[in-house]
Amino acid sequence: MQNNTYNVPFNRPTIVGKELYYISQTIHHGHSAGDGEFTKRCRKLLEDTLGVAKVLLTTSCTDALEMSAVLLDIKPGDEVIVPSFTFVSTINAFVMRGAKPIFVDVRPDTLNMDESKLERMITPQTRAIVPVHYAGVGCEMDEIGTIAGKYNIPIVEDNAHGLFGKYKGRYLGALGSLATQSFHETKNFTCGEGGALILNDQRLIERAEIIREKGTNRSRFFRGQVDKYTWVDIGSSYLPSDILAAFLYAQLEAREEIQKKRRQIWEMYHERLEAWAEEGGVQLPKVPAHCEQAYHMFYLLLPSLTSRQALIEHLKSCGILSVFHYLPLHLSDMGRQFGGREGDCPVTEDVSDRLLRLPYYNDLTEEDQETVVKAILDFDPAKA
Ligand SMILES: Cc1ncc(COP(=O)(O)O)c(C=O)c1O
Repeated sequence: MQNNTYNVPFNRPTIVGKELYYISQTIHHGHSAGDGEFTKRCRKLLEDTLGVAKVLLTTSCTDALEMSAVLLDIKPGDEVIVPSFTFVSTINAFVMRGAKPIFVDVRPDTLNMDESKLERMITPQTRAIVPVHYAGVGCEMDEIGTIAGKYNIPIVEDNAHGLFGKYKGRYLGALGSLATQSFHETKNFTCGEGGALILNDQRLIERAEIIREKGTNRSRFFRGQVDKYTWVDIGSSYLPSDILAAFLYAQLEAREEIQKKRRQIWEMYHERLEAWAEEGGVQLPKVPAHCEQAYHMFYLLLPSLTSRQALIEHLKSCGILSVFHYLPLHLSDMGRQFGGREGDCPVTEDVSDRLLRLPYYNDLTEEDQETVVKAILDFDPAKA
């Protein structure tokens, strides 16, 4: 799986140019711990662009999800509703606080939480709903918001894929009480490992700062609001070094250029593969008209598990790495311990067998993309 064994890797973390310059500035400033100059710049850029109340950089999206679980006071016996078709952190963060996962199926078109199946999952124990904007395409947030509002349940958007995507003109991440971002090396904007917690519910901001600072009121101390800082709540160390924030700031500054390039890559795949897909019974990603996607990934839904595996092998023989995900969480070892059974989420179980992600990264060259497209066009799903 090493990048150098493939002519076209699946992912290549890219640098835009100013990362090392900004890192050297942090080192010269003499502040490389958390919440330095570049952390503030990233925070301000994200708050201003997204129009959200508060952004706290974190060490990962997983950590931002863990902070969300602490902030919402999740306790043993509480229930949290998540799609089964997601990364393990979406629910693990809540299970670590004692929550029981309640898995809901996804829609067959966008592979997002199926809002029509949500209300029946709600019980008096439900404490959070965690929609995932899969591939950076917004979930049906109007419907999800109406149901959450009816039962007064907070929404935590797992927006690991969707920074700068929009739903009905509003930024993803600005729609729930809380939202989480990822800056892992596979994401559009990266600092290797990193994340952010977005707070739209103003009442949660002060406690979030405390939880992120090891349970202390250090943030208030730095603002001069208290004359010494002390232990006031539970918490951990969730703030990234300013060296990572410096790396990230260079990428966030280049967001228009990065998104433009990623859009071109997505459109080229779509345009060139449309007829082939139609003929071979392959589903391409669907983006509803009211969503502006974040151009995070390009996937194919092959007709069967056999044809998906055959295409992976075919691409491998052409020096191209393609990958699949997610294994349904309700059928994982942990998911089964919570009662997950075959047939609970039929769409998830089906798409998990058939989905294939194509190489997609910021500096994928036209030539390399052409190699991928040609290799796919040579493959007949019906013969696999
Ligand atoms: C939907 C989703 N949520 C959360 C995460 C975790 O992100 P991180 O690696 O920043 O902790 C990922 C990682 O890929 C993800 O895909």
